[in-house]
Amino acid sequence: MNDDTFERSPLTVLGLGAMGTALVRAWLAVGLKPTVWNRTPGKAEALASQGARPAATAAEAVAASDLVVVCLLDDASVVQALDGIDLTGKDLVDLTTRTPAEARTRARWAEERGARFLDGGIMAVPPMIGVPEAGGYVFYSGSRALFDEHRATLSIPAGTEYTGEDPGAASLHDVALLSAMTGMFAGIAHAFALIRKSDVAPTSLAPLLAGWLNAMTQSVQEQAERLESGDYTRGVVSNLAMMSEGNATLLRTAQEQGVTPELLAPFMALMERRVADGHGEEDVTGVVELLVR
Ligand SMILES: NC(=O)c1ccc[n+]([C@@H]2O[C@H](COP(=O)([O-])OP(=O)(O)OC[C@H]3O[C@@H](n4cnc5c(N)ncnc54)[C@H](OP(=O)(O)O)[C@@H]3O)[C@@H](O)[C@H]2O)c1
Repeated sequence: MNDDTFERSPLTVLGLGAMGTALVRAWLAVGLKPTVWNRTPGKAEALASQGARPAATAAEAVAASDLVVVCLLDDASVVQALDGIDLTGKDLVDLTTRTPAEARTRARWAEERGARFLDGGIMAVPPMIGVPEAGGYVFYSGSRALFDEHRATLSIPAGTEYTGEDPGAASLHDVALLSAMTGMFAGIAHAFALIRKSDVAPTSLAPLLAGWLNAMTQSVQEQAERLESGDYTRGVVSNLAMMSEGNATLLRTAQEQGVTPELLAPFMALMERRVADGHGEEDVTGVVELLVR
């Protein structure tokens, strides 16, 4: 253990993967010297030269600070890393990606061990951490008091969005956004596959594709308003019946270009089901009803 660790540390960071390391660097850049721990020791030593204080064990790292930030691979690795460690009086801020139910379980688990718990979902990639103009932020949920107390420290690596006392709220927001991103990536993959064997260069399609996706995001707010009003036909410009008819052209083009329809087909099937159920005058909002079980 470094001699410095005998002083109280402003915070401890458990987990020095790509994200944990970026978080530590952001705190180091403003002069805070976190105590750090990683299962594989080499990563902690690399940060020590910049002022971080490596701890030999997770228990030592937790003991060094009242504020303990966790950023490990998944929920199971958090349980494994903190197993048997005294958390009495600690403020545990866990930025590990997990499900809402896992977050609620982890909050109860932490509170049973005498800690306050705040769950976090990071909406950024490591190069955006510590770079405010990059627009990265973290969703937080759980103890409001804990969030307010540590907000200044937590705001250093990225922006903060508090989502509520339910510990599952941050994960729910995080995963909703990541799920939408996954669908978008699927669409982008399909578009690039369509041109793969053509003369259209990916770099010439890219700005057009990005611009189009950007323009289409207007629909997010419109769909939200329709969901809240319960009227999915209000102000619809492109209705589901028309869009469903258009799907056939998309599928024939995929066939012509030698591209599998497997990414598009499930969503198209839902659109067609909604039309068959008599909702052809709506936009795509009604698909939400078919997804919720
Ligand atoms: N990277 C991103 O773009 C990004 C963006 C948003 C959110 N996140 C989230 O941030 C978290 C960390 O991501 P990352 O990019 O830092 O991942 P990473 O580079 O793969 O690092 C994973 C970290 O978890 C540790 N770990 C894994 N299993 C463990 C166990 N059983 N016990 C103790 N430590 C264990 C690893 O330790 P070792 O070094 O010993 O393997 C390492 O420190 C994840 O939940 C991820 O979803 C990441």
